[in-house]
Amino acid sequence: MMDRRAFMTSLAVAGLGLAGKSGPALADATEMRRRALDFQVGLPERPWLLGWQTMDAPTCAAEPGEISLEGRIPADLKGSLLRNGPGGHEVFGHRYRHWFDGDGLVHRFRLADGQVHHDGRIIDTPKWRAEQAAVAPLFDTFDTDVDGLSFNSTPDSINPANINIIRHAGRLLALWEGGSAAELDPQTLAFRSFVTLSPKTRGLPFSAHPRLDRDGTLWSFGHAGYAGKIVLYRVRPDGTLHTAHLIDATATPLVHDFMITERHVIFILTPWRYDRKAKGTFLERYDWRPEDGGQALVVDKDDPTSQRIIDLPPFWTYHFGNAWEDRSGIIRFDHCGYADPSATTSDFRQVMRGEQPTGGHGASYRLAQIDPRRGSFSEEVMIDGPGAEFPRVHPDRMGQRTDHAVILLADPDAGAEHPHFTTTAMVDRESGRIDAFVHGPTEIAEEAVFVPTTGANDNAGWVLQTVLDFKDARTRLKIFDARDIASGPVAVATLPYAVPLGLHGNFVKG
Ligand SMILES: [Fe+2]
Repeated sequence: MMDRRAFMTSLAVAGLGLAGKSGPALADATEMRRRALDFQVGLPERPWLLGWQTMDAPTCAAEPGEISLEGRIPADLKGSLLRNGPGGHEVFGHRYRHWFDGDGLVHRFRLADGQVHHDGRIIDTPKWRAEQAAVAPLFDTFDTDVDGLSFNSTPDSINPANINIIRHAGRLLALWEGGSAAELDPQTLAFRSFVTLSPKTRGLPFSAHPRLDRDGTLWSFGHAGYAGKIVLYRVRPDGTLHTAHLIDATATPLVHDFMITERHVIFILTPWRYDRKAKGTFLERYDWRPEDGGQALVVDKDDPTSQRIIDLPPFWTYHFGNAWEDRSGIIRFDHCGYADPSATTSDFRQVMRGEQPTGGHGASYRLAQIDPRRGSFSEEVMIDGPGAEFPRVHPDRMGQRTDHAVILLADPDAGAEHPHFTTTAMVDRESGRIDAFVHGPTEIAEEAVFVPTTGANDNAGWVLQTVLDFKDARTRLKIFDARDIASGPVAVATLPYAVPLGLHGNFVKG
């Protein structure tokens, strides 16, 4: 077992001192203020940009008397839908360049006794607190140069905790992917501390997309693209670290999500490569090189030194639904694949400066298979783009066969008055059936969350779907019977305010 020094040395984690920071360099500050103005200029013409408006207060809350409820909350749906995403898009009038830059906004819908409560807050990370004290942005982010230094300050000093939120081993964790998991107070949602799984992994990247095994083990990874390494974490059901293993990924691809099966951990290494010599923001240092092709890295769960590499065609993927091995050992999985990552490098910047996205960069929903013994890969498109994203399956069946997934679609024929997600769909990969509901023309849908009920079917339960109605400036929670999405929601709770669009969420029972 490597000690911390060797572990860190092999990761080559840089730790630039933060002393002397007093705010953004003049050119950066001017650009950030101009971007805030550009966004306000674009908003009246493109009112759907409300989804990317900054959270204008550090907290929000609404009690049942302030929340309009149509229909009835299912009696067996008890707990909280928690969501997270960048919501602090501006720091004292300085607007970030990219959707993924902002401070984490965590919020929750608590369902109890047939009523809905809502609350949320910008996560008060050390980064957020330091900037509040300075009354200025201080730190570089994913795609905004704030201080003119490179994106290699100590990871947790710039950690916005802004991608996902999960509960594991009784801890509520807000997840970024460039630094540690952030533990939140389960009552107030306030930041408690960064999670250190072991001294040797202190401050190392921890993914926003851990996978929960059926025995309660949490598998995760840390992508240190700058070092050409992936840290594979195996966390016991009680929250303690079983192992942290370093995997070589010398091609330094961007890795956002991964998969588990009964026996394996699988990484898809796309040809979106980190260039150590490049200058600019973290995102600007990535280069799309389709000529290099991709690779699947299949790692043995019990012996991470046992790995197979399978060549893939070039594609970019953020999110996988699920993966499993069939009886012949073939690994099957579903994902939302893009021809290239230009949605990230263009659309998600354009919305931040109040512009219409160039578009046409959406993903298709694909069913793929890898044969590790033959070293082969194939896939078919089940739903063609543009715009299939956020595949979610039965949360207790990670690594086991699932036939159903909930996904979001951006259907250009849905009559929407915005360019984002229009439709919630339950897809059955075996029958090819798609059970879908199109939201209102001024409603933008976010990632849906599947909450299973008892039963053998992997689509028995409820689908929790949040939408932002930019015309009414209201966020809604819609609850669907997962076996009958097309009939529409059985309940709709409308908040008295709009919450900026987020990224990921999960349901916590209780
Ligand atoms: Fe994600």
